[in-house]
Amino acid sequence: MAKVAIAARGLNKIFGEGEAQTYAVRDVSFDAYFGEMLYIVGPSGSGKTTMLSMISGILRPNSGSVEIDGTDIWSLDNDAIASFRLKRIGFVFQDYHLFPRLTTVENVAIPLILRRVPWDEAIKEAMSFLEIVGLKNRALLPPVKLSGGEQQRVAIARAMVSHPEILILDEPTASLDGDTGRAIVTFVKEHILDEDRCIIVVTHDSRILDLGNRILKMEDGRLTKIEEGAASHE
Ligand SMILES: Nc1ncnc2c1ncn2[C@@H]1O[C@H](COP(=O)(O)OP(=O)(O)O)[C@@H](O)[C@H]1O
Ligand SMILES: [Mg+2]
Repeated sequence: MAKVAIAARGLNKIFGEGEAQTYAVRDVSFDAYFGEMLYIVGPSGSGKTTMLSMISGILRPNSGSVEIDGTDIWSLDNDAIASFRLKRIGFVFQDYHLFPRLTTVENVAIPLILRRVPWDEAIKEAMSFLEIVGLKNRALLPPVKLSGGEQQRVAIARAMVSHPEILILDEPTASLDGDTGRAIVTFVKEHILDEDRCIIVVTHDSRILDLGNRILKMEDGRLTKIEEGAASHE
């Protein structure tokens, strides 16, 4: 039996007040397991990013709980949540969020620098992750000199540099052409997914859905369906 990585229970998130109130996520519960690549799909505005933010310790839910590997993250104080996230969760944003004034390798080293790992050690470790994503020869360039697919790989290397057991990718292929997008997700699956990791991918891209073990569908803030993916019996 696979071990539960994330147990989300009764998650709700409401933005705004009164007339302007938006129920972004309503009563969402699910388990994600170690060893799986779990997809979350649904139309734009259906609450996917809001849900990811709650399960990764970025956005506090109005109600509900999130347990990651047995820790009830929203019961921790803010500092503890921040350090839990830094060590154990890697998040790849749709638009990469790379810092233009830093070199590529410095961008990858940021999570280590934030954890006060000495500079030289952080850069060395970041370099080894750039090597994994095939970009060692781009290390000293600023990210703007890289293609979209390369920048996405830098964001993945940065998300992986702390060896997190949870890796979350929010529409990782949205800014990439079809072949590059598929190559990125295939890369993550082959090089990063193992039995001690859980990878969650939000996507609109139906061309990569076959790579997932299970597919969660969201609509209007609700989780409407959980399907076995084509890769469920690998
Ligand atoms: N910070 C925010 N303030 C107000 N409304 C928000 C905020 N973030 C998201 N929303 C609203 O919540 C709903 C879900 O958004 P989101 O989670 O971004 O959906 P998705 O990622 O599926 O496109 C949308 O109606 C969106 O406008
Ligand atoms: Mg989104």
